[in-house]
Amino acid sequence: MKILSLVGARPQFIKEALVGKEARETGAWEHRLVHSGQHYDTCMSDIFFQELHIPAPDYHLGVGSGTHGAMTAAILEKIEKILLDERPDGLLVYGDTNTTLAGALAAVKLCIPVIHIEAGIRMAPKTMPEEINRALTDRMATLLCCCSDLGRANLAAEGLQKGVIVTGDVMYDLFLRMRSHFSRVKLTQYGVNEGNFILATLHRDYNVDNPNALGAILQGLMRLKEESSLPVLLPVHPRTRKRIDGYEHTTLTREIVCIPPIGYLELMALLCSAAFVVTDSGGLQKEAFYAGKRAIVIMPDTGWRELIECGWNILVAPDENAIALSGHRIHVDCKHPGPLYGDGHAAENIVKVILNTLK
Ligand code: UD1
Repeated sequence: MKILSLVGARPQFIKEALVGKEARETGAWEHRLVHSGQHYDTCMSDIFFQELHIPAPDYHLGVGSGTHGAMTAAILEKIEKILLDERPDGLLVYGDTNTTLAGALAAVKLCIPVIHIEAGIRMAPKTMPEEINRALTDRMATLLCCCSDLGRANLAAEGLQKGVIVTGDVMYDLFLRMRSHFSRVKLTQYGVNEGNFILATLHRDYNVDNPNALGAILQGLMRLKEESSLPVLLPVHPRTRKRIDGYEHTTLTREIVCIPPIGYLELMALLCSAAFVVTDSGGLQKEAFYAGKRAIVIMPDTGWRELIECGWNILVAPDENAIALSGHRIHVDCKHPGPLYGDGHAAENIVKVILNTLK
């Protein structure tokens, strides 16, 4: 049996690290890796392959950045050729990026089963690019691997039940597996101390492509700093960097420690040392929970609603006062709800279910 796995953006490299490893080590199938090139900077791509020991991709599509249509179309055309040449027994796609959607669409039209990892996540607004990508990919998938029961319930509500399985979250597997390798970051190089800083990340289009929203968030971060007396450390996504410069918001970052994007190990090390997190990343809000850290999530909605409902994470609008206020709420005690996303064996579960279903 042969499975092709398609990745392209940071969170997908992280998820592929363990699924690909498990497939290779158990000899489950011939595993071929394709990189779309959606993320291409060294700090957005290569560093993850190096740190997580992901073998070099068999194919690199080199699509780079572009509009949604141009990027999706370029991946669609290029992956179709590879699927026709390789004729795999299945295509693995991860999450909700343009890479995910393009891969699923090419495969389903060639009658190649699609396996969707992190299926069943739903959030408002429905017009958000990632929401469109994930909902359409779920429609096309033969096997839908969910991180938690919520994913299964969301799919059932849409009449999708066949091929749905709750496997747990491979990001939790990776967190547990790599915990002892989280690099001992020299916090002093960033002027922060253990347990005494706020870790922030920002990259969502609705937060950073709108000058008012971006300005309000940066002001909110400054208020958090003033009111908690904790410095804010912000690894800046290239998209966010362009917007900060383009909107002339650099003065709003004067009080924030801005650093270039960092790899998985360093980010996790910073996470484990932070007081709390402010983010719009789907992955980081869950990893914060794995690290026992609370997160302020700047999104209109989140797919990880379990973490909001139990009070662990706080959802806020891109509003200066709301962000400042959430800084007070984040210190109110909340009992850790225990494991919500499996037992650290999601990759094994995924490999087993693929073998049982497609062989
Ligand atoms: C994408 C995903 C998002 C995911 C995120 C992880 C979609 C629609 N969105 O968002 O779900 O959470 O990846 O980071 O697929 N850029 C660079 N260098 C790079 C990559 C990007 O400079 O290596 C810049 C370019 O200006 C590009 C912009 O960042 O236009 C946005 O990149 P893109 O891949 O379109 O979206 P992300 O914001 O990274």
